[in-house]
Amino acid sequence: MTPEQIKLVQESFDRVFPVKDDLSATFYAELFRVAPAVRPLFAEDMTMQRLKLSDTLSYVIRNLDRPEVIEETVVGLARRHVKYGAKPDHFAAVGMALVHALQTHMPGGLDEHSADAWLNAYSLVSDMMIAELPTQAA
Ligand code: HEM
Repeated sequence: MTPEQIKLVQESFDRVFPVKDDLSATFYAELFRVAPAVRPLFAEDMTMQRLKLSDTLSYVIRNLDRPEVIEETVVGLARRHVKYGAKPDHFAAVGMALVHALQTHMPGGLDEHSADAWLNAYSLVSDMMIAELPTQAA
């Protein structure tokens, strides 16, 4: 990511942060709509899940310019995701649901440059996570 893209993600995250509950509700609704097969991997009650997700997103976004901090956080996340049953194939749906939720709730809208910057940030994190997962059986 370029320094400009990191700034775009950080600034737009600050803008959407006041409506983070709506953001995460839309994110999970969209994820379960496009990838219903992953619904059973998550708990029935998503309250704690939403809180943990926005805490981790905040931490990662604040540290996008510090690869060593991202690396440590993401490796831990990936190891827990092996137990949750996450597979490499699931990541595309998660990324699409995230951008959809951002486009829905970003005050003032999400412009094209910011959407690209978010997709880059998501690729960075998801590539790191996928690299830590066991390879998928054919
Ligand atoms: C870059 C992508 C992703 C990020 C940043 C992310 C982040 C998180 C975070 C922060 C949590 C809270 C629990 C913890 O910290 O361990 C969590 C839980 C979870 N994630 Fe992800 N996740 C990602 C991708 C995925 C994918 C692709 C799946 C596959 C379906 C998935 C499935 C789950 C499940 C099932 C849980 C909840 C487990 C429970 O019931 O406690 N995640 N994720």
